Amino acid sequence: MPKLSILVGTMYGGALDAAEQVKPLFEQAGYTVAVIEQPSVADITDSNADLALFCVSTTGSGDYPGNFVPFVRNLHDQSPSLTSLRYGLIALGDSSYGDTFCGAGRALDALLADHGATRLGERLEIDAMETFMADDAAIPWVEEWIIAQQLEVA
Ligand SMILES: Cc1cc2nc3c(=O)[nH]c(=O)nc-3n(C[C@H](O)[C@H](O)[C@H](O)COP(=O)(O)O)c2cc1C
Repeated sequence: MPKLSILVGTMYGGALDAAEQVKPLFEQAGYTVAVIEQPSVADITDSNADLALFCVSTTGSGDYPGNFVPFVRNLHDQSPSLTSLRYGLIALGDSSYGDTFCGAGRALDALLADHGATRLGERLEIDAMETFMADDAAIPWVEEWIIAQQLEVA
């Protein structure tokens, strides 16, 4: 079975919740799914890790959540080629923070692109001002994403 890693960056658990809620959708589509709460670069550079979903919230002033900081630091330091990585990105934020809305997700997207990774589809940005439970937005988006990107393997 192909593998899908869901890499989570979260402060208060909303992004982790969303990851756990979408996990069965990928299982139904034929994947072995790992929800990774302490992501490492190896999770996206291993030979069988060519599809990933990032679920990342923003804290501070457009900053990465604490659990996600080592991943980003190591990505900068190791600077691996990610040309075989295809990924989706769910960014959680709050538009009341203005310019830094979904800042971590947006920065991550740019960082992955810099390393040659290919985003499948558009980034989902979930605004806490509009959506109380992130999974309410994440579940329909993932259902659509699986269809639109023809990810079903079962
Ligand atoms: C201290 C603090 C700082 C935040 N800073 C930002 C920010 O700069 N930009 C943004 O879009 N959202 C910001 N948020 C909102 C969170 O990203 C949003 O509530 C998100 O849903 C939290 O997800 P989590 O539960 O996975 O951490 C901040 C929230 C807190 C509590």
